[in-house]
Order: sequence, then C-alpha cells, then structure tokens
Amino acid sequence: MKRQAAALALESVRGGMKLGLGTGSTAKHFVELLAERVAQGLDVVGVPTSEQTRALAEKLGVPLGTLDEHPALDLTVDGADEVGPGLALVKGGGGALLREKIVAAASREMIVIADASKKVETLGAFPLPIEVVDFGIAAVRRGIAAAAKAAGCQGVLTLRRRADGHVFVTDQGNLILDAAYGEIPDPAALAAQLSNVPGVVEHGLFINLASRVILAGPAGATTISR
Ligand code: A5P
Repeated sequence: MKRQAAALALESVRGGMKLGLGTGSTAKHFVELLAERVAQGLDVVGVPTSEQTRALAEKLGVPLGTLDEHPALDLTVDGADEVGPGLALVKGGGGALLREKIVAAASREMIVIADASKKVETLGAFPLPIEVVDFGIAAVRRGIAAAAKAAGCQGVLTLRRRADGHVFVTDQGNLILDAAYGEIPDPAALAAQLSNVPGVVEHGLFINLASRVILAGPAGATTISR
C-alpha cells in the first residue's frame, strides 16, 4: 500500500524538478521508484530531509543537492504519522521533523503518501514529537507542559531513546520529547503555543503544509486535496 501511494505521487514528478525527499518507510518507496525513473533518464535533483534518505538516494543514484543550492523546491514527497482534518499532520516518528518541515516549507507543493491507517478524525493518538535543545531540559519540559495546557492538551513527555538505550540525537544534534496527549483538540493552537517555548526547536505538527495526501488502502488509493 505504501508503494502504491509512492507510485501515485511519482506521477506528479516532471523532468527538471527540484524535489524534497522525505524520510521513513513510505518515503523510502518513493526514493526507490524515483531512482528507477532516474536510471531511465529522468532529470531531477533531490534534497533529502535526513541523512538516512541521503544515504539511500546516493546509493540508488538519485542526483542530490542542498537546500542552500535550491532554496525554492517544486515538490516534496514525504510520509506522515497521522493525517487529520484540513490535512494537518503529525510527523517526526522517524526523528527527521526539523529538516522535513524546513524542506516542506521551501516547496511549492507537498504531497504526503501514507497507508490508509494514518488517517484520523483527531490528531494525537500518535505521540507528538517535539525537538528540543540539549540544555535545561527540565525547564523546557515545564515550558512545554504549560504551553500544551493552554491549548487543551495534557500528557506525559518521554525523552526518545534508541533501541540500544542511548538517547536519540537528531541529524541536527538535538533531542526529541514524545508528547502523549491522546487527543489534540486544536492543532493550530498547540502549534502556536509550542513554537513560543524557549528551547523548542520545532514540533511535529505540520499545519497548512500538505497540499495533497495520497492514502492507499486495501480497496485502492484516495487523494485528498486541501
Ligand atoms: C520521519 O521523521 C517522519 O516524519 C515520517 O515521515 C513518518 O514517521 C512516517 O513514516 P512511515 O512512512 O515509516 O510510516
């Protein structure tokens, strides 16, 4: 299903495009399919949203550039952890939310590809990843808790760790707190509140960034546009 969504997104790619390349298992399918087209002669430049995606794209021969070289991208294709009303997203399950958001914001269009299970009525069942600096984390946690409360959210903040128990460090050298709010009644309000907390670098709420979501399920794929 993820590959089907990726294949449909590929139909929007044209020669000459500058493409943001997302991160995660669904975005991986897109990079693989894109690489097949590049091998057949498609001329594009990709800007990866993580070192993981960079390594994959490099290995598969997708031409890459940086966002500094291409600050205005045509299209970004990325996955999501949740897709809510108005195409508001929760992202960052793979820890790449900061670069993902910068790349998406620099793109004329963002297409999200996902399996149908990612569609929800209310965001928040998936813990919201919040990227924070590695300084004064107890104070930053307090700031996040107060900000979230003002937006009607309460829940446990868990410092993300790798499978081997070491603290997870993002590609930008920051930490991630996963916020288990259960429900986020007003994603825009929470996004605004969190952005005001000193020490919060970025959060995984993507509001007004996705222009289209391609959801693939057992019965086929649906496209939702904003
Ligand atoms: C990466 O940081 C995330 O934003 C991913 O886009 C998200 O976790 C989706 O991943 P999957 O495609 O593996 O579900």
